[in-house]
This record gives sequence, C-alpha cells and structure tokens, in this order.
Amino acid sequence: MVVRLFGLLLLCGGVSSISQDPPNIVFIVADDYGYNDIGYHGSELKTPNLDKLAKDGIKLENYYVQPICSPTRSQLLSGRYQIHTGLQHGVIMPCVPTALPLEDRTMADKLKEVGYKTHIVGKWHLGFYKEEYTPTKRGFDSFFGYLLGSEDYYTHMRAESGFYGLDFHDNLKPHNQSYGRYSAFEFTKRAQSIIESHKKGSPLFLYLPYQSVHAPLQVPGIYEEKFQFIKDRNRRMFAAMVAAMDEGVGNITETLKSSGLWDNTLIIFTNDNGGQVFAGGNNAPYRGNKASYFEGGVKGVGFVSGPVIKTPGVINQQLMHVSDWFPTLINLVGGSLNGTKPDGYDVWSSIVNNATSPRDEIIYNIDPKSPRKGKSVSTVFDTSVQAALRFGDYKILTGDPGYDKWVPEPTSPFYLTPNQDYVSSSDQNVYLFNIAKDPEERNDLSQSHPEIVDMMLQRLAKWNATAVPVNYPPIDKNCDPSLRGGVWGPWM
Ligand SMILES: *[C@@H]1O[C@H](CO)[C@@H](O)[C@H](O)[C@H]1NC(C)=O
Ligand SMILES: *[C@@H]1O[C@H](CO)[C@@H](O)[C@H](O)[C@H]1NC(C)=O
Ligand SMILES: *[C@@H]1O[C@H](CO)[C@@H](O)[C@H](O)[C@H]1NC(C)=O
Ligand SMILES: *[C@@H]1O[C@H](CO)[C@@H](O)[C@H](O)[C@H]1NC(C)=O
Ligand SMILES: *[C@@H]1O[C@H](CO)[C@@H](O)[C@H](O)[C@H]1NC(C)=O
Repeated sequence: MVVRLFGLLLLCGGVSSISQDPPNIVFIVADDYGYNDIGYHGSELKTPNLDKLAKDGIKLENYYVQPICSPTRSQLLSGRYQIHTGLQHGVIMPCVPTALPLEDRTMADKLKEVGYKTHIVGKWHLGFYKEEYTPTKRGFDSFFGYLLGSEDYYTHMRAESGFYGLDFHDNLKPHNQSYGRYSAFEFTKRAQSIIESHKKGSPLFLYLPYQSVHAPLQVPGIYEEKFQFIKDRNRRMFAAMVAAMDEGVGNITETLKSSGLWDNTLIIFTNDNGGQVFAGGNNAPYRGNKASYFEGGVKGVGFVSGPVIKTPGVINQQLMHVSDWFPTLINLVGGSLNGTKPDGYDVWSSIVNNATSPRDEIIYNIDPKSPRKGKSVSTVFDTSVQAALRFGDYKILTGDPGYDKWVPEPTSPFYLTPNQDYVSSSDQNVYLFNIAKDPEERNDLSQSHPEIVDMMLQRLAKWNATAVPVNYPPIDKNCDPSLRGGVWGPWM
C-alpha cells in the first residue's frame, strides 16, 4: 500500500526522501445532503459519478458528522470538537462576530507546511468578521466562493438581519463576474482550472465545499426535466440540484485524469449534515432531520476513492467522525500535528485495512446556549441542556434533540409532506438508544436502562468539564454590506 509507506519510512529513522510523492487530496463536501440522497443508498435520485467513485473506493457506512454546517466544517478543518472551540451554538450567522479560533490551525495550514498547494472553492462559513479569519489567512493559497452559509445560486446575494449584499469572492476581492451563473458550474470550472494549472512537483489540496444542495431550491431547467417522475416539487428540484452537482464531480474527475494528476489522487467525499426534509432532502430510513441529533441529522454520507485506494468495493463499518479527517490526513502525508490538539483520531488504518477503530465515543455537542427543555432529571448533568453523546453502541440525547419524525422517501406511498411548524409536545429530555441494534432509533431505552443512562450522563459531565465557554456574541450591525459597497466581508 503506497500511502502507508510514508508512515513506515518515517518511522524507520526519519527518511525524508520518500519513494512516492504525497497524494493530491480533493476533498468534496455536499451541503445538506441526506443519507437517502445518494444513488448507492437506494435513493430515487441519480448520482452516477458519485456512485462510480464510491464503488471504486471505500464507502464509510459507520461515519458521523455534526447536525449543522459550521460545526461540521470547523471539525473537519481543525480536528477539534466544537465544545473546545466555542462554536457549540448554532451556525455562524452573518452578523455574529465569531469564528473558528486562530489557535486552531486548519488542515490547509498543516498541509502547506509539508509543501501542498492549497485551494478552497465554495463555501467557508467559519467566520469572517476580521480578515484574519478568512480562508486565505487560514492556510489556503486561494479562495473562490462565499463566506456565509447560504445565498442565491445565481446572484450570489444574501439577505440577512435586514441587510443585503453580494457574497462571492476571489481571494478577498469581491467577485461579481459570476452574477447570473449557477454556482455548481462556477465552482466546478474553477476547480478544473486549478487542477489544470497545478504544477507537478508539489501536491495539491483542493477543498471543494459545493453550495449544492442547500436551500434555496434553484437549478437550471435541463436538470429538472429528467425528474418528472418525482411529483413532489421540492424533491424534484432537489433531485435536479443533486444531478448538477454529480455532473460537476464527474467533470472534475475527468480533468484530474486528463491533467495527469489522477494516478496519485485521493478523493474524499462527505456531506456536512443530514438532509433538510423541508427543502427536498431525505434521510430515510433514519429518524430526524438536519439540525437534529437523531441519526438522520448526523449520519455521514462519505467515501474515499481514487487510485490511492487499493481495495475498491469495500463497505467500511469502522466508527468514524468528521473530526478524524484532520489527524488522519496530516499523518498520512507525513505532516506534523505539532501545535495542534486534535480531538479526532487517525483512522487511516481503519479505513484501508479495516483495523478496529481507535474511536469508541463521539461527543456530538453540549450547547449551554440552547433553549432548555423540561427539568433536569439528574444531578450529574443538567438534562434540560441540549447534548448528544455516542459511547460504544449507545447514544444518549438530552434537552431538545430536534425534529424527531421519520420521513419516508417522497415517492413512497407513506410519504406525507412534513410539517415545518411541528414541535414535539413531549417534555421528555433524555433518550437512550442502542444504535447497533436499533439504528432507526425506534426503541427508547431511557426508562428500562437507568444504569446506562447514568453512565452516559457521567460521561457527558466529564466532557462538559473540558468545554470552553460558548463564543456567540449578539449581532453586530456594522456587518451591514451597504457600508462596504454592497459586499459582505470583514467589518472589524
Ligand atoms: C460538465 O461538463 C460538460 C461538458 O463540458 C458541461 O456541458 C457541463 O455544463 C459541466 N457541468 C458542470 C456541473 O460543471
Ligand atoms: C512545534 O511548534 C512550535 C511553535 O508552535 C515550535 O516552537 C517548535 O519548535 C515545534 N516543534 C517541532 C518539533 O517542530
Ligand atoms: C472488518 O472488521 C469487522 C470487525 O471489526 C468485521 O465484522 C468485518 O467483517 C470486516 N470487514 C471486512 C470488509 O473485512
Ligand atoms: C457544565 O459545567 C458547567 C461548569 O461547571 C456547569 O455550570 C453546567 O451546568 C454544566 N452543564 C451541564 C449540562 O450540566
Ligand atoms: C453585480 O452585477 C449585477 C448585474 O450587473 C448588478 O445588478 C449588481 O448591483 C452587482 N453587484 C455588486 C455588488 O456590484
């Protein structure tokens, strides 16, 4: 296995001249992409390019992400749990002056240290109120995309808190030349041009967090035509958006091949959180939605592929979390974790050799700023606070776990359009599931297994003792883009 060789050679006396160059890494993120939104999970959606890559690679089927955007992206790029970065609460809203702390070095910082050329094309969403938090100050040689969490796919404009402005940048320069052009095309084209102009001799890190397939539901008509069989309008639009993204991934794969980079490329694909069932996404058979801590919110859609992977067709069941990419990739390329404190684990051997995962626990979150639910039933850990923890086969949810329904695929005869205003009337603030036996979370064990609840609450309390304060200040109106030529950008 070529890639394992780096580590081996480094172990055997710090040999620096490795026989094989470190791989190019193309890291693709799909936004709000649910478990049942990819062809190979049996979805009604068509994703031939993603399916082919996954089939030629290793599908990660016991892989977890966070239930919302900034938390997942922060953990992906820093390897740090959000209870350790102050990003416990929600996503970074446009006018909230907060960000991934500078002391948390990013994957791009660390890859650059070992000679990578580093590029981000797409969505940032890790804070921008000061220039020092923007991508080109966080290890990326170039940035083409947007700083906030969502926007119009064609105008690249974002309305928020009574403000309105352009959020599209080429490095730090406002970029309005893509006005009227669909972002999946713009991002694919830029990714292709980065690949084509990449000079051999240094490895490439291309981080490609697509806008697709987050709301708003927008897509060129030619894609929608193929999905007339889907009667539900949201699902049909969503299917078309997925098709455009999938085509983009196919185009990028072709460009990697034609440019000669392919033979030494590692492709990683992940979602950032579960699908948004109110905007065409679907997480069947799992329970819940984007932003909920049920499996539908946190189940990862992920695979690794490319010629670097020598065991195609494998379905991997080792427990893995999005925070693991950071130490895994930095170690893989012979980089240094010096100056970082990753919470994630190096899971490369679990991915490629099916070694037992070093991970048996995931602290999803403890959000002291979340609205409380009910009264605490414990003196060890305040169960009115929203928190979620996986330990071994068990998962505990406290506080408000979010949307708690099962939403079947929209073409299913059992499908009912989910009600966006639904709020659970229950006061229950502790749930316990055995995920290995009951992956659909239909059988709450919190009443029948109080001893396991206790043990899990103690673990939560232990994690809570390591948490840093939430850094989520009130909205700062100086964010107003009209103060800066109608463009969203750093304001402090
Ligand atoms: C993919 O490439 C084809 C052929 O160049 C082009 O027509 C299509 O628009 C591209 N799609 C995306 C999403 O980049
Ligand atoms: C680790 O990084 C620190 C600065 O963050 C530096 O002073 C130290 O020399 C580095 N150590 C190694 C072994 O690279
Ligand atoms: C991987 O290891 C697990 C045990 O940890 C085993 O159940 C599974 O069958 C193995 N998978 C493959 C593809 O060998
Ligand atoms: C977490 O620890 C803090 C500080 O000790 C405490 O105030 C808070 O109540 C704890 N949170 C929960 C959910 O128990
Ligand atoms: C971008 O271009 C469009 C179309 O020309 C124009 O309406 C809009 O005002 C421009 N936005 C900015 C921020 O310059």
